[in-house]
Amino acid sequence: MTSKTTAIGIDIGGTGIKGAVVDLDTGELLSDRVKIATPDGGKPDDIVEVTKEILTTLSGIAKDVPVGVCFPAVVRNGRTMSAANVSKKWIGLEAESLFEKALGVDIQFVNDADAAGFAEARFGAAANQPGVVLVTTLGTGIGTALLYNGLLVPNVELGHIELDGHDAESKAAYSAKERDDLSWEKWAGRLQKYYTELEKLLSPDLFIVGGGVSKNADEFLPLLHLQTPILPAVLRNNAGILGAASLAANDAPLRGKGGHLRQRA
Ligand code: BGC
Repeated sequence: MTSKTTAIGIDIGGTGIKGAVVDLDTGELLSDRVKIATPDGGKPDDIVEVTKEILTTLSGIAKDVPVGVCFPAVVRNGRTMSAANVSKKWIGLEAESLFEKALGVDIQFVNDADAAGFAEARFGAAANQPGVVLVTTLGTGIGTALLYNGLLVPNVELGHIELDGHDAESKAAYSAKERDDLSWEKWAGRLQKYYTELEKLLSPDLFIVGGGVSKNADEFLPLLHLQTPILPAVLRNNAGILGAASLAANDAPLRGKGGHLRQRA
């Protein structure tokens, strides 16, 4: 399996690191998802080790194919610039080259929400959607990906806007619903405020709501009253894998090694 339409995507999250071989024409997984728990503390060397283990398994299925890795932080020119829900040791780290040295292959290293958003634009709920689309992922944190006519603006961190004097994700992420034991109605009240604020800031044409909780979209999306249409993501837990793989295989990647912003929608 070495065709140009095949790539490997690996999605690093706070609880699990998962990867698969992806068919880039159809967006289907060509392998089982390999998933390993994220090592406690989420330190760089430990995460690199687990990623290596996953890549070794997947390389046995697809050799010499592009590899994309996504991560929950701002990633500029391969360097991790933030660490909202992971070890602070990632801040300022040359993460892409750290992974490349350990894995022995070139990779495309990108923000997790950017990967998810790019995947939704290519294969999912934002496919062929013109205008401004904001993909939000509601999980441990809130990730956001901004697309204009299918083109991704990377590293948009709208999960951290201020909401009632707090970092929005600390109140409106799915983890906040669980932590504060909120009913769907109570949580939807917070989401209402959050998406209303985003509407004010961006005047988007469409919101897409991803993250694991998007499978329960019927419980909370109908409770929101917004001017902007809001739809559940369709790729669920595979969005990061699919997006990382797609960005890696792109002829013109999201961020070139020279730091340019280059991509093909
Ligand atoms: C981080 C983002 C990330 C999101 C989802 C936020 O806390 O700042 O970079 O995309 O969580 O993981």
